[in-house]
Amino acid sequence: MTNWTLAARAEKMNPSVIREILKVTEKPGIISLAGGLPSPKTFPIESFAAAAASVLATDGASALQYAASEGYTPLREAIAAFLPWDVHPDQVLITTGSQQALDLIGKVLIDAGSRVLVETPTYLGALQAFAPMEPQVVSVASDSEGVLIDDLAAKAGSGADKARFLYVLPNFQNPTGRTMSEARREALVAQAAALNLPLVEDNPYGDLWFDQAPPKPLTARNPEGCIYMGSFSKVLAPGLRLGYVVAPRQMYPKLLQAKQAADLHTPSFNQRLVSEVIKNGFLDRHVPTIRQLYK
Ligand SMILES: Cc1ncc(COP(=O)(O)O)c(C=O)c1O
Repeated sequence: MTNWTLAARAEKMNPSVIREILKVTEKPGIISLAGGLPSPKTFPIESFAAAAASVLATDGASALQYAASEGYTPLREAIAAFLPWDVHPDQVLITTGSQQALDLIGKVLIDAGSRVLVETPTYLGALQAFAPMEPQVVSVASDSEGVLIDDLAAKAGSGADKARFLYVLPNFQNPTGRTMSEARREALVAQAAALNLPLVEDNPYGDLWFDQAPPKPLTARNPEGCIYMGSFSKVLAPGLRLGYVVAPRQMYPKLLQAKQAADLHTPSFNQRLVSEVIKNGFLDRHVPTIRQLYK
C-alpha cells in the first residue's frame, strides 16, 4: 500500500505510547508503573468462572446475541444505583472501556480546529482519542490541587473559538496522581457553569484510595453541566473492556448514535458477566481488598 492516499486525519494518528509501554510490560519480570495497569492479583477469577457458568445456563442465548446499544439494563441500573448522585439508568451508556467514551465524546463535541481544554499534563490516551477530530488542544495550568481557576477563565476562549469542553481527572490524575481538593472542585464547577463550559470528568481510579475517599465527583455537583466517565477496568479487570458514560439528557442521543456507528454495542456476554459478578454488594467487599494490596 505504498502509494495509497491516506485520509488527512490518519496523519493525526500516532502510535499509542501507552500500548508501546504495555508491550514491554508483557515481558516476564517487568513491573511497569508507567501505565494504569492493574495487578492481576486483583482479578476475581473464581467469581467470573461462577458468573460465566450462571449466565450461560440461565441467559445464554441473549448473552451471545446482538443487543441494544445503550447497554444491558440491569448493569445500567446497578451503575446508576452506585454512583453518589441522583442518576437515572436511562442516562447511563455502556461503552467498550472508558477509552471508547473518549472517542465518542470527541466525535460528538469536536470539530476540526475546536478549542479543547486539558490539564497540564494529561492522560495521553485522551489526547490520542481526540487527535483524529483535529482539535486545538489548549493546556490549562494546574497546581497540586488541580486546575487553576483563573487560567481556566483565561483559556476558555469566546465566540467561534469558545472551548468545547475541559477534560479533567479529579481523582488520582493520570499521570500526576494528584487529587483535586474539595475547594478546588467547588470553584471549578462554579467557574465552568459561569463560562457555560462543559466538563468531561474521567474517573477510572476514584475507588482506589488508601486512607480517605476523595471528595465527591464534579458531576455530582452539576450533572447538567458535565459528562462523567467510569470504568470497571481498575476494580474488576481491564480485559473486559467495560466502561460507561453518564450524560445529560440532551447529549445522550448523540453519544448513543456515535456508539451505534462505532461498534453497535459492547459485548453482551461481558455486560452480563459483570452484572452477575457485582450483584449482592460484591464491589463493596472486593474493592477494599484492592486498596489494601496497593497500599
Ligand atoms: C485516565 C484514564 N482514562 C481512561 C482510561 C481507559 O480505561 P478503560 O480500560 O476503561 O478503557 C485509562 C486507562 O488507563 C486512564 O488511565
